Amino acid sequence: MMNSILTSKWAKVVLFLVCLIPAGMLIRDFFTGGLGGNPTQFLEHATGDWTLRFLAITLSVSPLRKIFRLPQLIRFRRMLGLFAFFYVCCHFTIYLCLDQVLDFHSVLKDVIKRPFITVGFTGFVLMIPLAITSTAGWIRRLGGRRWRMLHRAIYLSAVAGVVHYYWMVKSDVHLPLEYAGVISVLLGWRLFDWYTNHAPRTATAEAAHKETSSSAVE
Ligand code: HEM
Repeated sequence: MMNSILTSKWAKVVLFLVCLIPAGMLIRDFFTGGLGGNPTQFLEHATGDWTLRFLAITLSVSPLRKIFRLPQLIRFRRMLGLFAFFYVCCHFTIYLCLDQVLDFHSVLKDVIKRPFITVGFTGFVLMIPLAITSTAGWIRRLGGRRWRMLHRAIYLSAVAGVVHYYWMVKSDVHLPLEYAGVISVLLGWRLFDWYTNHAPRTATAEAAHKETSSSAVE
């Protein structure tokens, strides 16, 4: 049942539409005056939140695939990652056009002088090559190993996003810390997975090495 849902050609279409819901709601709020007294800040905050959520959802695909033995989930990872990129592009565009009214000098000053903008900008820039190389053609061109290495930059983007949020808030750090917890679990799982996959191999290799050295001595 689960398998047929995940492999159905409609699953991607449905997911695509679901991922557009936050953007659709913001557009609706824009036209119905639902953005509150400070629309720019509202949009900045909402798109920032959705960027972090999509980064976390994208990072959840691999653990969920392995824990629930659902290899088909991989079909959705690229789309989810690209939606994280879509929302960060909206976030940056809102900052650039509405907050800074295209004053590039002021943007540059912000990027250099305000640490929370510096780190957010770094997270954004790191996502650009990932979005560009997300296609099957780029996986082939780079080779699976190099592609995987490059795409580990998403870990840095997620951490940069959390630090950016943490440094932005002045008093109540509750929410940024919640995101920090989620991202730490997702990255911690990868460390654990890497360790459990490599430790036995290392032990075997060491045992084999000891055996060869002792037999060489003999
Ligand atoms: C990985 C990249 C990024 C992520 C994950 C991210 C995430 C966030 C989050 C979660 C918030 C707070 C939302 C809330 O309060 O509910 C936020 C606010 C904000 N972000 Fe980002 N952001 C990123 C990149 C950027 C970039 C590149 C810029 C601009 C250069 C930027 C500028 C801002 C600004 C101006 C605010 C609102 C600050 C305020 O109202 O005082 N962010 N961002």
